[in-house]
Amino acid sequence: MNILVTGACGFIGSHLVEELVRKGHKVKAFTYYNSRGSRGWLDNIDKRIIKEVNIISGDIRDNEFVNNNSKKIEVIFHLAALIGIPYSYHAPKSYLDTNVIGTYNVLNSSKMNNISKTIITSTSEVYGTAKSVPIFEEHSLNAQSPYAASKISADQLALSFYRSYNLPVTIIRPFNTFGPRQSTRAIIPTIITQILKNKKKIKLGNLSPTRDFTFVEDTVNGFIKTLKSNKINGQTINIGNNFEISIKDITKIMQKDFGYDFEIILDPKRVRKKNSEVFRLLASNKKAKKILNWKPKYTGVKGFKLGLKKTIEWFKGQKNLKDYISNSYSI
Ligand SMILES: NC(=O)c1ccc[n+]([C@@H]2O[C@H](COP(=O)([O-])OP(=O)(O)OC[C@H]3O[C@@H](n4cnc5c(N)ncnc54)[C@H](O)[C@@H]3O)[C@@H](O)[C@H]2O)c1
Repeated sequence: MNILVTGACGFIGSHLVEELVRKGHKVKAFTYYNSRGSRGWLDNIDKRIIKEVNIISGDIRDNEFVNNNSKKIEVIFHLAALIGIPYSYHAPKSYLDTNVIGTYNVLNSSKMNNISKTIITSTSEVYGTAKSVPIFEEHSLNAQSPYAASKISADQLALSFYRSYNLPVTIIRPFNTFGPRQSTRAIIPTIITQILKNKKKIKLGNLSPTRDFTFVEDTVNGFIKTLKSNKINGQTINIGNNFEISIKDITKIMQKDFGYDFEIILDPKRVRKKNSEVFRLLASNKKAKKILNWKPKYTGVKGFKLGLKKTIEWFKGQKNLKDYISNSYSI
């Protein structure tokens, strides 16, 4: 299939591009233009894979650019976004421009170019702190950060295109994803990189919130499953493990299972404001199992530890680990 992936230079997008090429698809990868000519994580993937990919650099906020590059495409996976919650406190309008207008540009291009499947990437942050668990797709939406608000807006716009124009749109809603290539703004890389730099005291924020972590291989598989399903138009589908763990318990696994010795220092800069903190996320993945036939491989505490091991190994292999800055202050 002819597939366009936006956000291909990022963490999940780069893994998705690799897997689509391995499966024999023709992939066009949107990367975010910069004057250094960097193609983000695509610069690090297997040369045999990258030579199969048509890489286009640009900006998702540019309607004409998105539209011109969506011609002769069958499926769009839209992952480009601004994703850091702390940064969304400082620069909320840029989140509207990228996440809402960027998604509008994708939807509009899909409509103009008769794209047969448009997959929009949401986030579990749209639910806010769980009111009931597990969180089904019908759970209320509650934006506790400008990031979450921008993603809710983008999701609603996508659904409106399905309802108003019959555009074949699907919302994939990943819960926290982790694995190789994730930036240190996220909690697991923040913990790992501080420890690997031989820090005996690591700085973290609130330790009590729980998250439902999915290993990136499983998340990517969830996206890929949409290619084969014909029951997904207008649907919103959680991709999560149905397993929750607190940040405190992750640090205990690092100590007990992986043998790292460290103390935790509470860094007030990394604590989200009380009303903005999402205290609990635990996914129902019944719908993904039923309509996508998706089954995560890294399940429960055992699967989480296996994913963590692979992530630690990957960070250990990074020659430039000293450049990884662990200044993230959210989950
Ligand atoms: N990582 C997670 O835990 C997680 C969880 C739920 C949802 N998501 C969603 O998954 C998607 C991918 O997230 P990720 O973790 O890979 O993040 P990422 O930051 O690694 O990837 C996002 C990519 O979008 C690109 N981008 C940003 N602004 C752009 C613009 N104006 N034009 C073109 N490209 C632009 C960035 O350069 C980046 O490579 C996002 O939509 C995010 O909201 C991620």
